[in-house]
Amino acid sequence: MTATASHLPQDEVHVWTLAVPGDPDTLATFRALLAGDELARADRFVFARDRHNFSAARGALRMVLGFYLGITPQAVVLHYGRHGKPNLAKEFGLRFNLSHAGSWVYLAVTSACEVGIDVERLRAPGRHSRLDLARRFFSVDEVAHLAALDEARQVEAFFACWTRKEAYIKLHGRGLTLPLAQFAVSVDPDQPARLEATPWLPGDLQRTRLYDLTAAPGYRACLATGSTRALTLQQRPWSAFPPPAN
Ligand SMILES: CC(C)(COP(=O)(O)OP(=O)(O)OC[C@H]1O[C@@H](n2cnc3c(N)ncnc32)[C@H](O)[C@@H]1OP(=O)(O)O)[C@@H](O)C(=O)NCCC(=O)NCCS
Repeated sequence: MTATASHLPQDEVHVWTLAVPGDPDTLATFRALLAGDELARADRFVFARDRHNFSAARGALRMVLGFYLGITPQAVVLHYGRHGKPNLAKEFGLRFNLSHAGSWVYLAVTSACEVGIDVERLRAPGRHSRLDLARRFFSVDEVAHLAALDEARQVEAFFACWTRKEAYIKLHGRGLTLPLAQFAVSVDPDQPARLEATPWLPGDLQRTRLYDLTAAPGYRACLATGSTRALTLQQRPWSAFPPPAN
């Protein structure tokens, strides 16, 4: 079984964005779609908010994957990579990734290539300053670029850089085993998202594209795709799900 072409043409990436609902009935509808291992994981969260976010994200993911595959959400079988990246069996021909932050869930789906997605809430720094965090997680060039910006733009730039890097990390599915300082993305939040250097895997400069996504005020989000082909990105709110067939 493969993704139905009428719903997901080969050169498209669809991103669905969901604000986790607060009402118990909708949350229960999402939860009812979860597999046994997912229910067990949901119930291990200490805080109800985390449980609801996880359940809504997994429920929505199952609805999206089920829709594109033409099966029920409950029939979707997820597998996990070595570092935890969820995926479908290869024969389905469908790749996806999801991210959550605050009450937002972002889901990317495509049949074109591997994808990674990240959404982050713009948070105030804790014990460590933003530049301290950048020195820990960013490359030398990224840190220099960030430090050169005036302070008012550093918050947006920090999270632009973070989401671009994280989307790239999630594309590869290797978690933090991927050398964070060994690749660089564009830092300026007003410039297009771009992979600028990848000494650890030089071929990625040709085959990786980054796309900043639309996000609610106070959030940043980015998508990474691993394809040399130009893809069309369609970002849609959950209120438009399911989409009409073409
Ligand atoms: C596991 C990891 C994906 C966590 O990412 P995160 O930003 O904390 O959380 P997100 O909400 O964006 O992503 C989590 C989702 O990605 C998916 N995921 C899990 N492991 C993954 C992996 N190795 N690769 C890609 N996606 C993964 C899952 O769907 C997961 O959500 P779920 O388990 O609720 O379904 C991983 O990249 C990581 O450990 N990142 C650390 C963050 C960091 O220090 N980044 C450095 C700054 S650039």
